Amino acid sequence: MQFRIAVLTGDGIGPEITTEAVKVLKAVGGRFNHDFSLEYGLLGGVAIDKTGAALPDDTLELCRASDAVLLGAVGDPKWDNDPQARVRPEDGLLALRKGLKLFANLRPIRVFPVLVNGANLKPEVLEGVDFIFVRELTGGIYFGLPRKRWRTSRGWRAVDTMSYSEREIERIVHVGFELARARRRKLVSVDKANVLESSRLWRQVTNEVAKSYPDVGLEHMFVDACAMRLIQNPAYFDVVVTSNMFGDILTDEASMLAGSLGMLPSASLAGVPREGDAIFGLYEPAHGSAPRRAGQNVANPLATILSTAMMLRYSFGLAGEAQVVEGAVAGVLDDNYRTYDIMSEGKVKVGTSQMGDLVAGKVGS
Ligand code: IPM
Ligand code: MG
Repeated sequence: MQFRIAVLTGDGIGPEITTEAVKVLKAVGGRFNHDFSLEYGLLGGVAIDKTGAALPDDTLELCRASDAVLLGAVGDPKWDNDPQARVRPEDGLLALRKGLKLFANLRPIRVFPVLVNGANLKPEVLEGVDFIFVRELTGGIYFGLPRKRWRTSRGWRAVDTMSYSEREIERIVHVGFELARARRRKLVSVDKANVLESSRLWRQVTNEVAKSYPDVGLEHMFVDACAMRLIQNPAYFDVVVTSNMFGDILTDEASMLAGSLGMLPSASLAGVPREGDAIFGLYEPAHGSAPRRAGQNVANPLATILSTAMMLRYSFGLAGEAQVVEGAVAGVLDDNYRTYDIMSEGKVKVGTSQMGDLVAGKVGS
């Protein structure tokens, strides 16, 4: 079977980590007889440098003509220190999410047992941590209007708008329930309904959708309480569904449970994943472009490799192959190989390309 993948390598360590993920995809193709055809496009800082736009039209078209998108990372400090910059690499990512209607961002938080001692929390708190965040990705305060800055007689003022429609809430909550149904059947919906009107609508719609999932337990949790519980008892969670901004903040917090951001994959989907369906999606590591590590062959490619496993599962309907990739990553860690970010005493330190070779080798055998 042929699958078309758009590869957007992006900035910083992006090109290095996507190279390793592609290596692993080729190993999967070789072993299981799939034809993954790759086409490369520009996004982020490299796109601004070459075309003036963070998301060139060609790139959007390329993605739309593909079955899935593999993304490295975007962002470079070159733009961060200039509040007047007219275009930023991150704008490209946001426009791509919106342009491809990727409303559901899945961020699994899984602690590999062999890495438990490398995290900042006590091993006993991390035991059994295995949950998944479902973050709404194309609405909320990231995109709400009005959004502007204006001059008043008392100086500048600015506004952003947090807004959600019933339809937007409904479809993302469905994603949460569907995933919970295939897991431990426990969904936590996170909001700030004690303060925000958009959260009160969120809660109401969630309760309505819950009626179609009598087999799944639903709990509402305020975002501040959730932030606390994530550190106090992370094993409590199974599936967490929340809005764009809350999800952005909570997933960075949760990433620290896994020891390194370098281990966390993500999927952004354009539909509700139901058993056996293949959905268009974009796959990227949860971490950024780490410009200081770029070009040194040190970055950890495992988050990107694990993202390709999610691609196999959600966009290509290849759950078995996805498990092979995940198993290969676990196997390489069991063999004691580590990149610098997860290195500990007595382990073997390897660079980006060696790590990719090791995982691809296990996939192919
Ligand atoms: C993320 C990132 C992005 C976001 C940035 C780079 C725009 O933090 O994917 O979590 O805020 O969504
Ligand atoms: Mg973020």
